[in-house]
Amino acid sequence: MSQTTEQTNRLTINKDKKPCYDIVFEHDFRNLEEELKVLGTLEKRICIVTDSNVEKLYGAQIVEILKKVSKKCVLYSFPAGEEHKNLSVVQGIYEFLIKEGFDRKDLLVALGGGVVGDLTGFCAATYLRGIDFIQIPTTLLAQVDSSIGGKTGVDFSSYKNMVGAFYMPKLVYMNLSVLKSLDDRQYYAGMAEVLKYGLIKDRIFYEWLISSMYEIFDRNPDTLEEVVKKSCQIKKMVVEKDPTEQGERALLNLGHTIGHAIEKYMDFKLVHGECVALGTVAAAYISWKKEMLSMEEYYEIRDMFVPFNLPISISQIEPEKVLELTKSDKKMKAGKIQFILLKKVGKAVIDSSVTDEEMLAAIKEIYFNEEEM
Ligand code: GLY
Repeated sequence: MSQTTEQTNRLTINKDKKPCYDIVFEHDFRNLEEELKVLGTLEKRICIVTDSNVEKLYGAQIVEILKKVSKKCVLYSFPAGEEHKNLSVVQGIYEFLIKEGFDRKDLLVALGGGVVGDLTGFCAATYLRGIDFIQIPTTLLAQVDSSIGGKTGVDFSSYKNMVGAFYMPKLVYMNLSVLKSLDDRQYYAGMAEVLKYGLIKDRIFYEWLISSMYEIFDRNPDTLEEVVKKSCQIKKMVVEKDPTEQGERALLNLGHTIGHAIEKYMDFKLVHGECVALGTVAAAYISWKKEMLSMEEYYEIRDMFVPFNLPISISQIEPEKVLELTKSDKKMKAGKIQFILLKKVGKAVIDSSVTDEEMLAAIKEIYFNEEEM
């Protein structure tokens, strides 16, 4: 049964109760030209920023479309991977924009996954004190999460997303058919963020995801449309209430404190969504130990990641070192980690009382010691 009643292909994100930008859900790139014309691009230069993987897949096609709606269209590509989400790539983009004569009226287009979107958004926020940008997210994770809500930025030193800005795109254009060819690992990593929405805000959605598991494995187009739209509706609700993460938006960080620490410990050999799954299991474990969840609920939440090809344990870590790495996370208020816990499926809370001992016990819970086998 359909979870979304809205039959439109568009969601509007409001800021201060006024329309700020649209998310459009399409099944190809055909309407991109019209969407851009409406934004007045005919008089603009456009720079598409993408990575080496996405360039091969969609670079030429998008250049062809954007040439028709701009006075000049160029493409900048950088090597794919989280290790390139840094200030030296940003510097390369600034230099390219200067060389190509980009001014404040021009436009950047982020074509790719979360790394491309965050980094391009940051360039847009800072080049000439801010130029417009749009998002064309090409991974499930970027479509359901990172392209919406205006978080932009790069990693700095060993700190994830340490340098950045809240800066809204002018449009998010989603071609849902790109999900068909996404590699399995990236696809299921995106599902970790989708499951997260159900866990923090919507039990019915969570249960629907589980009952739609086989359609999700098959990447059934109708099911995927439902998955992406519903996730975007939940994200819209959260970011409209709290655009700069003063409160409720922090709920979207379920699984991210320990998840980011594992991501760093593993030197990005696991992808973000896999680390979010591990971090969510750890958060659910703490929720059980704090008597917010029952033991049965904890095990159900944990085990539900398995059919979605997401890890629930990891053998390559040293739990004490992962705990240490949680200290460099940004999710602090007055020196205390803002931990996201679960009261039940569909209801998350912010908790500042989680101790190092509780975190360590949770990291040990997901640590699978092969030597003891
Ligand atoms: N990805 C979490 C947020 O946008 O706040």
